[in-house]
Amino acid sequence: MSTSSPSAPAAAAVSDDRVVARAQSIKSVYVFEAPVRIWHWVNALAITALAITGYFIGSPLPTQPGEASANFLMGYIRFAHFAAGYLLAVGILGRLYWAVVGNHHARELFWVPIFQRAYWAETWGMLKWYAFVSARPGRYVGHNPLARLAMFFAFFLLTIFMIVTGFALYGEGAQMGSWQERMFGWVIPLFGQSQDVHTWHHLGMWGLICFVIIHVYAAIREDIMGRSSVVSTMISGHRTFKD
Ligand code: HEM
Ligand code: HEM
Repeated sequence: MSTSSPSAPAAAAVSDDRVVARAQSIKSVYVFEAPVRIWHWVNALAITALAITGYFIGSPLPTQPGEASANFLMGYIRFAHFAAGYLLAVGILGRLYWAVVGNHHARELFWVPIFQRAYWAETWGMLKWYAFVSARPGRYVGHNPLARLAMFFAFFLLTIFMIVTGFALYGEGAQMGSWQERMFGWVIPLFGQSQDVHTWHHLGMWGLICFVIIHVYAAIREDIMGRSSVVSTMISGHRTFKD
């Protein structure tokens, strides 16, 4: 046996040091794949367009001057609403497909580990951090647990609700026998009548607007005060850690 070869414990210590050094050098992890990032920004644009045009459908502009036949402003606003509505719906279908074929972070949007005690403890920790009660947030590669809760209930389920009620209203215009009416016509009697669906669809918009305001505030706040990159993560896909 050669006397120059290191003993087994010494070799293990050297290899441990290498592992630690390597772990410390990892500053960036690839989290959001391109389809998730593209979907995020297309979806944000679609929702912005839907909220603006939807607001004007609910509170139309005062009567336009001139011949009625020369004015099609509300027609354009409704057309833009429906086009953005289709984009939103097709986008969600594409995003669901990517949850199946993409990496495990692509699935975080669609479920919440509500039966794990540790999940709620982490969520409580993040709530205290956002309320300026605790001094240090957790460090997460994917979504933080509080963001995940909001994204599932206040974004995903609410968006599905908007799509279902939106297509039910669309089915009324497309008339009996249209695919929209055949697939979503049952929604109108469920709520009572057409005006009830309008009201709930309208209320859903304010729910989404609340989500967006809090979401954008949290993303920018975490970027500045948190322990990792946030906004640039949804652009480059990489989560970069500060400590
Ligand atoms: C983020 C998603 C959406 C938002 C914020 C939104 C918002 C709104 C609002 C505020 C209204 C006016 C309701 C009222 O006061 O009467 C409206 C109407 C309507 N929306 Fe949406 N909407 C969304 C998604 C959709 C989708 C996916 C569709 C399906 C194509 C859709 C189809 C319609 C239709 C057909 C109307 C009624 C138009 C009319 O009566 O002239 N919406 N929407
Ligand atoms: C209508 C507007 C918006 C909606 C509905 C929305 C919705 C969402 C959703 C659903 C996710 C989860 C993505 C996934 O897992 O697939 C997400 C993530 C994210 N959004 Fe938005 N978003 C909007 C606007 C914005 C804006 C304007 C910003 C930038 C200031 C932003 C920054 C981010 C970031 C940084 C993430 C990743 C969070 C993380 O790092 O864990 N979002 N957003």
